[in-house]
Formats: sequence, structure tokens, C-alpha cells
Amino acid sequence: MMKGMERKMKILVTGGAGYIGSHTTIELIKAGYDVVVLDNLDNSNEKVLDVICEVTGTRPTFYKVDLLDYDAVDQCFSENKFDAVIHFAGLKAVGESCRIPIRYYHNNITGTLNLVDIMQKHEVYNIVFSSSATVYGMPKTVPITEDFPLATTNPYGSTKLMLENILTDVFKANDKWSVTLLRYFNPIGAHESGKLGEDPKGIPNNLLPYVAQVAVGKLDFVHVFGNDYDTPDGTGVRDYIHVVDLALGHLKALEHKTNQPGVHIFNLGTGNGYSVLDVIRAFEKACGKTLPYKIEARRPGDIAICYADAKKAKEELGWEATRDITEMCEDAWRWQSNNPNGFCEL
Ligand code: NAD
Ligand code: WQD
Repeated sequence: MMKGMERKMKILVTGGAGYIGSHTTIELIKAGYDVVVLDNLDNSNEKVLDVICEVTGTRPTFYKVDLLDYDAVDQCFSENKFDAVIHFAGLKAVGESCRIPIRYYHNNITGTLNLVDIMQKHEVYNIVFSSSATVYGMPKTVPITEDFPLATTNPYGSTKLMLENILTDVFKANDKWSVTLLRYFNPIGAHESGKLGEDPKGIPNNLLPYVAQVAVGKLDFVHVFGNDYDTPDGTGVRDYIHVVDLALGHLKALEHKTNQPGVHIFNLGTGNGYSVLDVIRAFEKACGKTLPYKIEARRPGDIAICYADAKKAKEELGWEATRDITEMCEDAWRWQSNNPNGFCEL
């Protein structure tokens, strides 16, 4: 990939101390990129940078900076000549976004507006943006292709859809921009080293970290939100994707879309759907324990079934997920069992 290049491509990873950003930083370093991480550590821990260094032998340059701090972000661009930005930084909890929408809109929208304004000022025109399958709202059918209608059901999702539109307008106004919108399905799993994984603050909102905390004995049982959906076993079906496969999707996006002006949109999913009970069973196998669960009422706002048509990324980026649900659960268990309290223990 780097053949024939005079210098390493320099990538700014916003949110690079977070769950997906840290795994992507590892893969970027392994592939020979020069990586700078910018993160305000609002939902992450500085120890992640030590782990990245342990795993790769390289410590990325780190800016503890908030995207809302225009001058500090501008300073970071003055000190570095970036080829591209991978933009993960954002708040992501759906329920919280309904309680404190202003914070979500301000952080995600204003933060991104600052970033793209500063990028343009420094003539950095390549951005890969973390979007989400949430922009498909309540899809009428599955699998979901990139041209499905877009709609959102909560402030978090609305920030993603608004940012997709904003970045599209930025390209329309200046056709030097290469904007890649990656719509992630449900990222789970952890780095195979067992040293890095998802570390939610407080009680997890998402299924996999909740199941992992039941397995490690921190929570009593899994609350299964509804078994009366129109799905094979009645529980919700999702497209779970290993976080390292997802990380590698970003490298493919950089490889194929850097300096390719346009708006490039890709689903990053496996194309397979697993139910809540499938996930519990796969995790039971990985951890060798029976995991107690209780069937409860549906969670408001949930959809029955959601999985990607992942063909476009395969055809245009040469990317496809290769890690299956067994590997996702095994890796998540290795991380959770080695670090029951996440990064607080390190
Ligand atoms: P994460 O919370 O682990 O990582 C996000 C990082 O961004 C955190 O380290 C946080 O401290 C940082 N951050 C937030 N606001 C910032 C700001 N104003 N300035 C600087 N840093 C800031 O989340 P993640 O799961 O790694 O998600 C990464 C991105 O992918 C997010 O944009 C998220 O919305 C998106 N996404 C996540 C999922 C998922 O299920 N995890 C699914 C689809 C899309
Ligand atoms: C998965 C399935 C639940 C928890 C969310 C966001 C989405 C994206 C990914 C960022 C559903 C069921 C869950 C539990 C359960 N994030 N469940 N018990 O809701 O598909 O997607 O994360 O962009 O925007 O909405 O993921 O892991 O919360 O739920 O039964 O304790 O597990 O009902 O069927 P979801 P999830």
C-alpha cells in the first residue's frame, strides 16, 4: 500500500483513544501509517495509548484536545501536515442523547464543523467519517443497501444524518474534498491480545458488553428486550461485526478513496444477522459458563431486524469482514476476563 511513497501518510484520528478509534490506530500503525490521535478523553482513558504502544511498538503522538476548542485543533493542524482525517470523535449513547440532546448536537455537530473548517483552512481534503446504520431508521426490508431511505428516531442518530448531509454539502461547495461515510452496523469484540476492548462507563447500554459483564460476574443476568418480534426466535436480530474487521475497513477506505474527490458511502457489516439468544449462546461457548437471562418488555425505539448488504464495500474497497461470531465472543471474553474493570485496573 505504501509502495513508492516518499513519506509515510500522516493520519489524524479523532476519537482515537475510544473503542473503534484505538483498534483502528493499531491497524494503521501496523500498516505503516504515521498516526496522530486527538481525543478529549471524555469517554476513554489515556492508558489506551500505552496499550497501543505495547501492541505495536509505536506510541502515536497524542493531543488531549476537545474538538469544541477551535484554537487547539487549529494548533494541532499547524504542527502536523496531515494527508487525511479519520473522524471517530463523538458522543454515541442513544438513550443519553434523548435526555441531553443539546450536548449531543453541540458536541457532534459543532465539533465536526470546527474540524472541517480547520481541515479546509489547512488544505486537508480527505475525511473518513464514522456514520451508523442508525441513519436507516426503521428499514422496511433487509438486507439494507446504501441507497435505502434515510430517517432517524433519536438525537444521536440525527447528528449522524445531519453530519452526512453537512459533509456532502462541503463537497458540493468544493470538489477537492473526498468524503467517505462509513455506516457501521453493530461493532463488538476486542483486540486478540486481550489488552484492548470496549470499556463502557457505568451499566452498559449495548448487548455485548452487558453479556460480557454477566459472564464475569459483575451483573446478575441479561435482560432480553422482547421475544415477540417477527424473527426466527422472537428476539431482535442485528449484524454484529468484529471491531478489528471494522478497523480494517477504514484502511481500505483510505487506500481507495484518498484524493478521490466525491462522497463515498459504504455499509460496514458482515451481511449476517444474529438474534439476542444467538449472541448469548455464542458467548456461553466462549466463556464456558451458562449465562442467566430473563425475557422482558421490548426496549422502546428498537427495531426487529437489521443487517447489511455488504456487497458495495467488497466490490469498491475490496473489503469484507472475515471474523465470525465465535471469534467476536472469544476476543470479547479474553478482554473482559483479563480486565473485569476495564482500563481502571491497568
Ligand atoms: P467511543 O466513545 O469509545 O469513542 C469516541 C471517542 O471520541 C472517545 O474516546 C471520546 O472521548 C472522544 N470524543 C467525544 N467527543 C469528543 C470531542 N468533542 N473532542 C474530542 N474527542 C471527543 O465510541 P466508539 O464506539 O469508538 O465510536 C466511534 C465513532 O463511531 C462514534 O462517532 C460513534 O458514534 C460511531 N459509531 C459507533 C458505533 C458503536 O456501536 N460503537 C456504531 C456506529 C457508529
Ligand atoms: C442489540 C440487540 C436489543 C441490550 C445501538 C445503536 C446504534 C449503533 C449500535 C451507534 C437489540 C437487544 C440490548 C440488552 C437486549 N450505535 N438488547 N438486552 O440497539 O442495535 O444499536 O448500537 O451508532 O445506533 O442504537 O444495539 O447492542 O443496544 O442492541 O436484549 O441489555 O440486543 O433489543 O435487539 P442496537 P444494542
